[in-house]
Amino acid sequence: MKELLFIDCCIRGKDSRTRKLANAFLETLDQNKYHVTAVNPEAEGMLPLTGANFAQREKLVEEGTLDHPRFHYARQFAQADVVVFAAPLWELSFPAILKVYIENVSVKGLTFGCDADGLFGSCRGSRLIFLTTRGERYENSELEQGSRYLEAISKFFGFKDYSCIAADGMDAAGADPRIILADACGRARGLAASL
Ligand SMILES: Cc1cc2nc3c(=O)[nH]c(=O)nc-3n(C[C@H](O)[C@H](O)[C@H](O)COP(=O)(O)O)c2cc1C
Repeated sequence: MKELLFIDCCIRGKDSRTRKLANAFLETLDQNKYHVTAVNPEAEGMLPLTGANFAQREKLVEEGTLDHPRFHYARQFAQADVVVFAAPLWELSFPAILKVYIENVSVKGLTFGCDADGLFGSCRGSRLIFLTTRGERYENSELEQGSRYLEAISKFFGFKDYSCIAADGMDAAGADPRIILADACGRARGLAASL
C-alpha cells in the first residue's frame, strides 16, 4: 500500500471549487493501492515561523532533536509516496496557509539535507501534484507564481515528478465555470487513475 498525503488548503471549505477538483481526484484513486491521509493546515492550527515558534524550531534542529512532536508533519511529508496540494489561486500565488505548511515541513535532516555540494532533497516521494482553480486565465503567463513556486519546491524536497491540474478562468467574463471545472475534474480523474 502506498501513502498519499493530501494537503487541503481550500479555504472556502465545502463551497470551494478547488475542493471539488480535489474530490474528483481522490474519489478516483485506487483504494487498494493508496492509503490517503488528509491534513488541513488551518484546522491543525499550524503557525508561521515567527518569534518563539521559530526560535524553538532552530534550537531543536541545531540539537538534532528531530523526533520532537512538532516535526510530525515534516516526518509525514518525508515518508509519503505521493503528495497532493489543493489550493486556489490567491494574489497570483496560493493562500498563505500553504506557505505556512511548507515552512513547517521544511526541516533540515528530515525533508532536505546539506553537504559539500549544497542542499539536496531527502523526501522519498516520487510525485508532487498541485490541484488548483483560478479566477482568470494564466496559460503561458509569467504572472502566475503558485504552480511555478511549487514545481521548484518539489525539486528542492527531492520529488522526481511534478504535475499541476488547473481550472483556469473560473471567474472570467463570459466563461462557464461549470464547464471549466468539469474539464479539469476529468483531467484530475485521469491522473488519479494513472497512478
Ligand atoms: C483572496 C482571493 C484572492 C484571489 N486572487 C486571485 C488572483 O490573483 N488572480 C485570479 O485570477 N483570481 C484570484 N482569485 C479568484 C480565485 O482564484 C478563484 O475564484 C478560485 O476559483 C477560487 O477557488 P475556490 O472556489 O476553491 O475558493 C482570488 C480569490 C480570492 C478570494
